[in-house]
Amino acid sequence: MTLEEKIGQTSQRGTSSMGKGLSEELITKVRKGEIGSFLNVTDSQTINFLQKTAVEESPNGIPLIFARDVIHGFKTIFPIPLGQAATWNPDLIEKGSRIAAIEATASGIRWTFAPMLDIARDSRWGRIAESPGEDPFLASKFTEAYIKGFQGDLSSPTGMLACAKHFVGYGAAEGGRDYNIAIIHEQLLHNVYLKPFEAAVKSGVGSFMSSFNELNGVPATGNKYLLKTILRNTWGFDGLVVSDWNSVTEMIPHGFAADEKHAAMLSANAGLDMEMTSTAYEDHLKNLIESGVIAESQLDDMVRNILRVKLKMGLFEQPYTRFNHSIFYDEKHLVSAKQTAIESIVLLKNYNNLLPLDFKNQKIALIGPLADAPHEQLGTWVFDGESEHTQTLKMSLSEAYGKNLMFSKGLAFSRDSLTDKFDEALEIARKSDVIIFAGGEEAILSGEAHSRANIDLPGIQEELIHKLAKLGKPIVLIIMAGRPITISNIYNEADAILMAWHPGTMGGPALKDILNGETSPSGRLPVTWPKTSGQEPIYYNHKNTGRPASEESFVAIDDIPVGAWQSSLGNTSHYLDAGYQPMFPFGFGLTYSTFEYSEMTLNKASFSIMDSVLITFKLTNTGKAEATEVVQYYVQDITGSITRPVRELVGFSRVTLKAGESREVTYTLPVENLKFYNIDKEWVVEPGDFNIWVGPNCQEGLKSSFVVD
Ligand code: BGC
Repeated sequence: MTLEEKIGQTSQRGTSSMGKGLSEELITKVRKGEIGSFLNVTDSQTINFLQKTAVEESPNGIPLIFARDVIHGFKTIFPIPLGQAATWNPDLIEKGSRIAAIEATASGIRWTFAPMLDIARDSRWGRIAESPGEDPFLASKFTEAYIKGFQGDLSSPTGMLACAKHFVGYGAAEGGRDYNIAIIHEQLLHNVYLKPFEAAVKSGVGSFMSSFNELNGVPATGNKYLLKTILRNTWGFDGLVVSDWNSVTEMIPHGFAADEKHAAMLSANAGLDMEMTSTAYEDHLKNLIESGVIAESQLDDMVRNILRVKLKMGLFEQPYTRFNHSIFYDEKHLVSAKQTAIESIVLLKNYNNLLPLDFKNQKIALIGPLADAPHEQLGTWVFDGESEHTQTLKMSLSEAYGKNLMFSKGLAFSRDSLTDKFDEALEIARKSDVIIFAGGEEAILSGEAHSRANIDLPGIQEELIHKLAKLGKPIVLIIMAGRPITISNIYNEADAILMAWHPGTMGGPALKDILNGETSPSGRLPVTWPKTSGQEPIYYNHKNTGRPASEESFVAIDDIPVGAWQSSLGNTSHYLDAGYQPMFPFGFGLTYSTFEYSEMTLNKASFSIMDSVLITFKLTNTGKAEATEVVQYYVQDITGSITRPVRELVGFSRVTLKAGESREVTYTLPVENLKFYNIDKEWVVEPGDFNIWVGPNCQEGLKSSFVVD
């Protein structure tokens, strides 16, 4: 290959279709073998034309890869990734991503920029919607499932190359403001942020994307430590690394590269194989190599990484797509999207067992801006799913229970500030037995560049809820949003609260089945839910501090006498006005039944590194309905060479029991899994005392302890 052809492989360009954006210049470049990949070409005629030009006319006949953000479905839209994480069900995630791959590859897309594996501890960050939540263990399980699903048999026509993004620290954006700097000390980086990415390498992911952010002062796109030391040398990754959109040239405003040439040099030397959209490589690599600034062997390595992936994908044997649009929104795909939506829904409150509702004998007033908003319930990062196929809550309820259902939006959209529809909403509410308020955030209020400093319900939704509450009827609050929403002001107004995230194409039927009790909710929070935005970042696996807060030590702002001096009482780590507890803890979620945990035992009291801890306990469904409990296992390493979190998730399983049924449940935890990256930068299990819990969330459950010697 000539230098130009090699550099061409490192270039990823965007264009939309034959009519729009496909310039003569681009076609000529493809013909000369000077482009390696395209993103966002979805028009079959253009895909075919470009591929044919590359394969039949370019000097080496190297096929192109067509890429797109297929994040939570292609046509059939599944819940947003944060909602999928709330299922705590990797099998569903694998099925969903396989379906996304089947639909996308039938359109010529063979590379998705997903899954996003950024640990997110701050719900102000808009892209928390697209994240696996705050926990590295749950995120790693989610990673394995996504990659298996997307890639399938990568060399087959439905194999879609997955991309572990954004490497790394993007979710730690300071203040939750998108693109902001990330300051993560080395142990935290290894023990939390890198874990899902390592799981991605172990799962055979074919590509990585470097992130927009700087990490401890060095932008990830030009970060040799990340891209070479960790990714290649420590983990042995042999796929390709692509930049994020213009993130090579964005190193200039970051203040890291002086100009585009410098940016190209820094990225190439750091080990970045392909540049997305900007053209620093195309414009400057040749000169950098000819002048000896970059060794040609460096470029050869980059090109090898790219070609290795193209070979693995079978693109040389089968470069062309058999377009098949008849499988879009296939019945089986819709069934799977519905099941994922059902299992993603988290029941947060159910006062007096208001839910499930008796639709046949009760008059229901359905109100709210998200009750019938086909586009909004699809969520962020939906380019291809069409809202005509969306089934909303209003559609599903009116189809099943039309006679007993009254509907009024109350507000045109989530941020609406007009009260002109309030009277109509109040009117139907007066005539009803139960009010369902479906509110939250429109899709555009979360996702990239859509961080919020205040994560209350937008607009005047709270005002409408207060007015409805005055009627004295029971209220079910359904939240559809890309993040936890702070609801302290309205918590007492709602009798039941369901978090439905942005549930996707089948959100309506899924919610109907939960509301009418056909199925019991089984979603659990993959993120800590704050009381107020000012508590962010908030996460369960925090450190204890030297002065941990407790019920006894906590002093509320109203308890401080006027004129009081700083006293030694209550000097613990909490907020005067928000305490130290979240609204709902990580792992939390109710069902239509109740579960009792009892008789926890461990197989022994002390273990060596080679052993496994065998946890056994009895789980009993003590309520009146069949339900699924997401059993969670947490460990605390009490003392370490660096301080350790108060609890860390080490396992989970879903157990379905009939009313009254009991089961002995066991879980095997290899002691080796308790390794952490310690003060000496080594992965070790440090001998000492450990606490262990089994329970329904990160704050409750049975406790035991053991020793590792
Ligand atoms: C996002 C990436 C995405 C890329 C291509 C960027 O703005 O950060 O996650 O894959 O665009 O659309």
